[in-house]
Amino acid sequence: MRRTLAAARNIIVFALLLVVRNCHGKPGQQGTLSALKDCIVQAGSNASDIVEHDGPDYAKYSELNYQWNLIHEKKFPVAYFVVRSVTDVQNAVRCCTAQSVRIVAKGGGHSYEAYSFGDSTALIVDLQALHELVVSPDRQSFTIGSGALLGQLAYPLLEGYNLVTPQGTCPTVGIVGLATGGGY
Ligand SMILES: *[C@@H]1O[C@H](CO)[C@@H](O)[C@H](O)[C@H]1NC(C)=O
Repeated sequence: MRRTLAAARNIIVFALLLVVRNCHGKPGQQGTLSALKDCIVQAGSNASDIVEHDGPDYAKYSELNYQWNLIHEKKFPVAYFVVRSVTDVQNAVRCCTAQSVRIVAKGGGHSYEAYSFGDSTALIVDLQALHELVVSPDRQSFTIGSGALLGQLAYPLLEGYNLVTPQGTCPTVGIVGLATGGGY
């Protein structure tokens, strides 16, 4: 079990290192956001996966911007980019760097400090579509996408492999939070 969790942690930390880079500039401005979006789309990502605060689909934005924990004031990042692949993540990192836009990774979104939501200058790389689970043939380790929620880990592991993980009972906490030391 320890090996299993350690393997998951390595993968998630690696994914986080790829994603968590803060660039400071003059983000949040309309010009910057549209240049950022152009950059990401030209790099091959799907424009429909970028949902802007000031865009046409506020219902979709609100859904993505759901915040469990409102100890702090609710945050409204400039846009969400629901990444579908490693290439999407790379495009986000390259384009945010080029456009000096702050980039923030979101796993489950349960952080008490609301780290997953950045601020009104940030693009959120929403990892929810990346939750593929692959268990090794000897069942001693597994890899899972960094956007997986604990329920997306616990239920398939139990039902498909008769394995359990040491984790809390809330199924919507993200694996990234648990594997990096929170989520208990
Ligand atoms: C882009 O996303 C939209 C909405 O999910 C989808 O209908 C369309 O097929 C996607 N386009 C490509 C090229 O994947």
